[in-house]
Amino acid sequence: MSTRVSDFSLRLRDLGLGARVGLTGVVLAFTIGLGASAMHLVDHHQNRDEQPGVSLEDLEGAYHGVETTAPLVSALERGHPETLQQNERQLLLKWLKSGRIVEDYDNFDLGDSAPEGLLRASCLECHSRNATKGDGIGAKVPLEYFEDVKKLAFSKSVAPVPMRVLVASTHAHALALGAMSAVIGLLLLATRWPSALRNGLFALAGLGLVADLLGWWIARDFVAFVPVIVAAGATYALSTALSLALIFLELWLPPRR
Ligand code: HEC
Repeated sequence: MSTRVSDFSLRLRDLGLGARVGLTGVVLAFTIGLGASAMHLVDHHQNRDEQPGVSLEDLEGAYHGVETTAPLVSALERGHPETLQQNERQLLLKWLKSGRIVEDYDNFDLGDSAPEGLLRASCLECHSRNATKGDGIGAKVPLEYFEDVKKLAFSKSVAPVPMRVLVASTHAHALALGAMSAVIGLLLLATRWPSALRNGLFALAGLGLVADLLGWWIARDFVAFVPVIVAAGATYALSTALSLALIFLELWLPPRR
């Protein structure tokens, strides 16, 4: 008989009822843990860019940090609209970079240079909801009220998670998930499924896990690695979920003779 571990002769289905019940509990516990991790991920990351849902930008913020320029600033800096007077452009940019965006928007003391008036005079012919000029930009990007303006006015700077948090998180995840994946992989080897499937899933889970953990660290310096974290994390989660399902089926399908 071959002694390769992938040829484990033990089949979980042949274990006693108590062991199968116990392992079922373990498999379900891992599944619950996996589900909770997914919820935690969404909850923890989604609000970094103030948009619902987890975006790549949220994750870039967490693992690398991001600087975004407010759309109003980029529009003005690229010379939009061409008709705007140079001094008015400077006044608007100064306001957007002043840290007093809310306070000064309609600050009466600023007189003619108050942003509200400048925007009304220079932008609303195109950027109001009923504007006839501007190819309908006013309906998509209105600038009529402060509610509209503030969505485009703030530049953001998101710092990545502090180093000590990353260290603590790596320590917890690497040890706990490493141990969990070893258990799941070994259980998977003791199932009836084709060995290519068992070996393949074990390989994907292990590689996904280590690539994810390394990605956290590398992405701190290289933002291009954030998608690697996403791909590795998804690979890990999916191969783990599938392994758990296959182990569950092994435990409760009729024994194969
Ligand atoms: C003559 C019409 C017109 C005027 C006046 C105008 N815009 Fe625009 N604006 C447009 C059009 C058309 C676009 C979409 C094409 C583009 O981005 O250039 C646009 C795009 C923008 C965008 C980019 C929106 C996005 O998708 O992020 C911003 C910000 C903006 N305008 C701000 C302003 C501000 C501030 C003013 C006044 C100082 C202004 N615009 C005046 C027509 C106008």
